[in-house]
Amino acid sequence: MTPLHEVIINKKTTINPIWIMRQAGRYLPEFRKIRKLNPNFIELCLNETLSSEITLQPLKRFDLDAAIIFSDILMLPYGLNQKVEFEKGFGPRLGKVNINEMTKLDEIDFVQKVYPVYKAIKKVSSNEIIKRMNKNTIGFVGAPWTLLVYIINQQSPKKNLKENFFKDDFLINRVLLILEKFLKIHIKNQIDNGANVIQIFDSWAGLLEEKDLPNYIYSPTLNLVDYVKSLNVPVICFPREIKNYKEFCDVVKPDVVSIDYNANPKKILQDIKIPIQGGLDPRILLTDKETIKNETTKYLDIFKDHPYIFNLGHGILPETDPNMLDYLVKTVKNY
Ligand code: CP3
Repeated sequence: MTPLHEVIINKKTTINPIWIMRQAGRYLPEFRKIRKLNPNFIELCLNETLSSEITLQPLKRFDLDAAIIFSDILMLPYGLNQKVEFEKGFGPRLGKVNINEMTKLDEIDFVQKVYPVYKAIKKVSSNEIIKRMNKNTIGFVGAPWTLLVYIINQQSPKKNLKENFFKDDFLINRVLLILEKFLKIHIKNQIDNGANVIQIFDSWAGLLEEKDLPNYIYSPTLNLVDYVKSLNVPVICFPREIKNYKEFCDVVKPDVVSIDYNANPKKILQDIKIPIQGGLDPRILLTDKETIKNETTKYLDIFKDHPYIFNLGHGILPETDPNMLDYLVKTVKNY
C-alpha cells in the first residue's frame, strides 16, 4: 500500500507522507523552460507528452509521495465549450456562458475535448518512478461552487463576487446540474486511467456566508464525494477558508480534509476525527531554513498522533526557491 493510502485508509499515524499543492509549476526552472516555449496554457495541458513530463518534474527532484497531474480546474468549463484563456499577470479570463449550448453538450464531445488529460494520467500512473517507488497519482477537480464562481464571474473573484452574481437563480441552478454531470464524468475518466486519490479544490469556499453553504457547497460536494467513494477511491476536500471545517466534515464526510493556513491546527485537531492534510503557510518557504524547520515541526508535533498528510495551506508560490522545498521535504521525512 502507498504511504498516502496507509494514512487515509488504515489511519496510520507513524508516517507523514508529503505532496505539495501546485508542486508542478512555476517555481521550477525546468517547468519555466517548457512554459516559455508553450505560451498557450490550455494547449500545454492538452499535450500529454509535456503535461506528463511536467507532472513528474517535482518527483525527480524531491522525495514526494504523490504526483498531481498537470492540468487545471478550468479544463472543465473548457470542455463545456466555454472560452477559457490565461492572461499573464491577470489570471484566467472566461467567455460568456452559453447555457443552451452547454445543456446540449453530450458526454462524447466533452471527453473528446479533454481526452489528453486522461492520456497524461495513464502515462504518469504507469511510469516507473510512480510504480516502483510506491507513489500515488492524484487526480483532481474544482468543486461545483468554485467552478460556478469562475463560470459566472468569468475571472478570479479576488475578494468579491460580481454584485449581481446571484441574480439569475435559474441560470445558476442549470449550471450546477451540468457541473454535477460532467464533474462525475471527469472524475470517472481520471480514475479509469490510473488516478488513485481524488482532490476536490474549493478555493472560493470562504466567499460564502453560512446560510448559503448547504445550497452551494454541502449538497453539491456531498454528491461528488459519495460518487468518488462509490468508485472505491479516497477523496480529499479542500474547502479553503471555510468558516467551519468541523461542520463541513460532519456533513460532507470526505476521507481527508485539507486545511488552509488561517485554520488553527490545534482547534482542527480537537474538532476533526478524519485524516487531515496541509496547513503550512506557503510564505514560510520564502523565509529561512530555521523558520521552515520550526513551522514544519509545529504542524508535525500537533498532528503526531493523528493521521496526517503534510502539505501547504494553499499552492506553492512561484517565487519559491526549489532548495527551500527540498529542505522542507527532508525536514518532514527526517521527523
Ligand atoms: O498542483 C499542481 O501542480 C497541478 C496542477 C494545477 C494547476 N492548477 C496548474 C496551473 C492544479 C491542481 C491547479 C488547480 C487550480 N487552478 C485551482 C485550485 C487551487 C488553488 O490554487 O486555489 C484554481 C483556483 C485554478 C485556476 C487557475 N489556474 C488560476 C487562478 C490560475 C492563474 C493564477 C495562478 O495561480 O497561477 C491558473 C493557472 C495555472 N494553473 C498555472 C499552473 C501551473 C500557471 C500557469 C502559468 O502561467 O504558467
